[in-house]
This record gives sequence, structure tokens and C-alpha cells, in this order.
Amino acid sequence: MSMNYNERIPNNVSLSENRRLQRALEAWQPNYMRWWQELGPEGALDYDVYLRTAISVETDGWANFGYVKMPDYRWGIFLAKPEEGRTIAFGDHCGEPAWQEVPGEYRSPLRRLIVTQGDTEPASVEQQRHLGRTCPSLYDLRNLFQINVEEGRHLWAMVYLLHAYFGRDGREEADALLERHSGDPDKPRILGAFNEPTPHWLAYFLFTYFTDRDGKYQLASLAESGFDPLARTC
Ligand SMILES: [Fe+2]
Repeated sequence: MSMNYNERIPNNVSLSENRRLQRALEAWQPNYMRWWQELGPEGALDYDVYLRTAISVETDGWANFGYVKMPDYRWGIFLAKPEEGRTIAFGDHCGEPAWQEVPGEYRSPLRRLIVTQGDTEPASVEQQRHLGRTCPSLYDLRNLFQINVEEGRHLWAMVYLLHAYFGRDGREEADALLERHSGDPDKPRILGAFNEPTPHWLAYFLFTYFTDRDGKYQLASLAESGFDPLARTC
């Protein structure tokens, strides 16, 4: 499960062993970078930012700090280690082996869940893109940018699932994640909360206190998903 930073897309999912998937994700990558340049943190492309980059999924691997320009951040695909013999812990399928592939009868709701979750990740980056201009302190600024790059990583995780497990419609959904935008009247983000303007830090603190806290419980439940790859992204 070591992280391979030598590939164009850093990952710990043996991406190079699946050329088709690797090529598809490498084709999505420039669109992601273009989106970051256009709708990522405003006026902050050229600054050295003190950021944490994950170098392993072990408990001590999440806290590798260094200065990096945000567009050079090493976004990638990092899943927690598979748990041998993991079973489903809740619901109708309680006790059965966790699914390593998408079960046909849950394909549509699972895709919807992953798309909805994935949509919030770039949406919050878009909502927060002006806040660097008015941050109360350097401490707040670093934390804001850290959150922004990690939302980018969360998006990568959902896009990986869509590409790896949902075929053509998954790839189309992955493209659409970069086409909807927060507050866009024609192509808004899926959840209403992510279309609300966040023009100042009071709005942002309230976002973190209520909206994002809801997200915390959402992710805790996804971490228990019967679809094992989804659980391991969380
Ligand atoms: Fe996130």
C-alpha cells in the first residue's frame, strides 16, 4: 500500500497495472488542473504555501509538511488498506462479505451517492475561493488552503471510483463534476448548500460549524459502506 509518487497521478492503487484506467484518469487530470486554475483559490497560484501532503496512509504518514505552490500539489488516489475478510456491518446484507465490485441492484444508488459526495468537494473550493483575500490571520490562511487542496484530493477519490467501477457513465459523471459550478444559474452544484455564496469569514465559520459538520457524519457513514472501495476512500 505504499504511495507511488513517481507516476503522473500519485496513487496506492497500482494504477500502472491498469493501463486503460490510468489513461482515462490521465485524460481527466488536465481538466482538473484547468478547473483549479480558473476556480481554485483566487490569486493564489504562485505563492509558496506551507501544506501537508500525505506520504502514506499509515497514521504517521499524513503529516508531511513543506512549502509548495498549490498547482504543484501532488493530488492523487490514496485508499486505506483493505481489511482482510471485511464484512458488511449493517442493513439487509449484514454479515455478508463486503462488495469488491458494484452489485448490479445497487449500481444506480451507489453512483448517485458517489456523484453527490464528489460534487461537494470542488463545490466547496469554489465557494471559498475569495476568502484568502480577507483572512483574519496567516494561521487561517494556511488552514483554508490546506482544506482547499484536501477537497481536491477528495474529488480525486470519488473520480477514481467513478472511473474504476462505473464504466462509461462513470466517466461522464466525472467530467460533469468539473462542469457544474457553485452558484451557476445554468449548471449549479447538486446540493443547495453548496450554491450559497460564502463571501466572508463569518459565513465560512458558519459553513464549517453546520454544513461541513453534517458532512463529517455523512463521511463516517460512507466509511461503513458495503461497497469496500468507497469505504476505503473515507
Ligand atoms: Fe471533502
